[in-house]
Amino acid sequence: MEREYYKGADAAGYEYVHGDIFNSIEQQRLHGLLREAVQSVQTGAQPVRALDFGCGSGNLTRHLIDLGVHTVSADVSDDFLEGIRRKFAATGLSETLRLNGTDLANVPEAHFDLAATYSVLHHVPDYLAIVREMGRVLKPGGVLYLDHEVTPDYYRRPPEYAEFLRKARPRVDWRRILSRALDVRGYKHILRRLADPRYKREGDIHVWPDDHIEWDRIEQVLRAQGFEVVLEHDYLLYKAIYDLRVYHEYKDRCADERVLIARKKK
Ligand SMILES: C[S@@+](CC[C@H](N)C(=O)[O-])C[C@H]1O[C@@H](n2cnc3c(N)ncnc32)[C@H](O)[C@@H]1O
Repeated sequence: MEREYYKGADAAGYEYVHGDIFNSIEQQRLHGLLREAVQSVQTGAQPVRALDFGCGSGNLTRHLIDLGVHTVSADVSDDFLEGIRRKFAATGLSETLRLNGTDLANVPEAHFDLAATYSVLHHVPDYLAIVREMGRVLKPGGVLYLDHEVTPDYYRRPPEYAEFLRKARPRVDWRRILSRALDVRGYKHILRRLADPRYKREGDIHVWPDDHIEWDRIEQVLRAQGFEVVLEHDYLLYKAIYDLRVYHEYKDRCADERVLIARKKK
């Protein structure tokens, strides 16, 4: 199937359909950890210069700019990059970079103090090459931030996690059904889905459960590039569809996503 990236209405509606990202619990968690990543930078640069790899509508970019970080928002989607320019140009801390989808060609070695990515690696078949590239463009003392990628438990479904999902998710997700039904472009998606049952309406390629990202291989790549782990934390992602009471009951008992912060040795 031909590869396509977020365009037009898909880019414009991205935040609306992603209740798993744009909710106050997830946003607060993210802000705290990005602050920790910025504070872990040991390059001496002021302000810190960051790369937001696969920036989308500017989820990480927004937090980084709030933290006073000069941010280069990079993506393969021109429509997302246009949105970033509209939203953040006036801050004086924002630049955009069009990516080619495979590497960071034209970005010199040791260029950034921080390289961050959130919910991108599982969209890229050769995600290890992307991790390697993010490592290459970081200065010694620079920090890599990888977030919103599933843990092995997401697939293994240990009993407590399975119980959480059973209790927290609505039996019928009316919000999702309605938003799909009201969106005419959804019909193109249905046709694609019929042709390939694994197709997801994300405008790009997913790395599927049988070829999902492997954290041990990521850590191998990072060790080879001289990185040391600053923080590795598994958390239970809060999605807007979850029952909040059930989420609070289980959030310290199971986890389905991982965040990794690592620093390049000087
Ligand atoms: C699920 S979205 C995440 C967007 C954003 N990071 C966020 O936190 O909301 C995945 C993003 O990865 C981008 N993307 C997909 N494949 C890519 C690739 N090969 N190289 C760079 N970006 C890619 C998409 O255009 C999209 O913006």
